[in-house]
Amino acid sequence: MQQSIDYRGKTVFVAGGTSGINLGIAHGFARAGARLAVLSRSLDKVDAAVATLRAHGGEVRGYAADVRDYAAVEAALASAAGELGGIDVLISGAAGNFPAPALGMSANGFKTVIDIDLLGTYHVLRAAYAHLNKPGASIVNISAPQSYNAMQLQMHVCAAKAGVDMVTRVAAIEWGAAGVRVNSVVPGPIAGTEGMRRLAPTPEMEKVVADSVPMRQFGTVDDIANCCLWLGSPLARYVTGAVIPVDGGWSLGGTSITSGAMPQATGGGH
Ligand code: NAP
Ligand code: COA
Repeated sequence: MQQSIDYRGKTVFVAGGTSGINLGIAHGFARAGARLAVLSRSLDKVDAAVATLRAHGGEVRGYAADVRDYAAVEAALASAAGELGGIDVLISGAAGNFPAPALGMSANGFKTVIDIDLLGTYHVLRAAYAHLNKPGASIVNISAPQSYNAMQLQMHVCAAKAGVDMVTRVAAIEWGAAGVRVNSVVPGPIAGTEGMRRLAPTPEMEKVVADSVPMRQFGTVDDIANCCLWLGSPLARYVTGAVIPVDGGWSLGGTSITSGAMPQATGGGH
């Protein structure tokens, strides 16, 4: 039985892997010995991410491309696979978000998030498939709680991420026989990220969010990276089509009603 997670000799491609959670995932795989490729729009962010990832000692490639541009995504994946020996693990995490009511955004605002999150995920998976080292390849889509929790100011993101999780499930069915596993990881609120800066921009709002998590704390980028390291490895060889929350219990929704009104479970109050 395999007990450790060792990515030496493996190639990992992270779409949207130049900041926040996705960059943390890239670092997790680079620490475990993988060859890395990252892609995002900003050449400056790509260059900075490549430089920090190379510090782990492995081969790293970076691509400046927009996941909305299929031809650019296809070219980046072909180049990475050609130079790094095919792709063993694909992480698709590029996303855009801004809080706005449905009537407070234009049709193009709604479409922009659908195009980045949902269409972009399809583009990344569609273009990567030819280059996956099959059987044994693993794909992880980075989803969000908006996929299954309806949230005000988030109609665009809720629709997009629900779609992302359906892409996960259908791809798992269609590609399972080829030995390609496809799963979603659903981060809860993760400390120090752009997503949380946009959705909880003040210390007061951060506290409200933390209090709504059963574990009463934000997660870290390493919490998400560790789940991806497991999903990419043979330890998860029979796991596909799963949508996995890594969120301190947030998705249970159990504390949001009672937060602040109920005694702590450990407090012994009646
Ligand atoms: P982030 O730092 O803004 O990361 C987004 C990444 O995607 C960046 O590397 C960005 O780089 C890239 N990107 C954005 N639009 C792109 C496009 N059109 N084409 C290519 N790359 C693009 O955000 P984050 O908060 O860490 O979120 C990362 C992922 O976790 C997202 O999928 C998000 O939905 C999910 N998530 C986050 C949280 C949280 O607490 N933060 C919670 C649940 C889920 P460029 O700007 O260079 O393109
Ligand atoms: N409220 C309402 N509408 C907004 C908005 C806001 N806060 N921010 C952007 N929009 C609208 C714009 O007005 C535009 O619509 P219009 O053409 O009808 O005016 C549309 O969204 C596209 O905006 P634009 O700035 O051209 O898009 P972009 O492709 O350059 O950037 C975003 C995409 C808007 C998602 C941008 O915030 C982004 O790049 N985000 C990536 C980082 C991120 O969101 N990280 C968190 C991940 S969880």
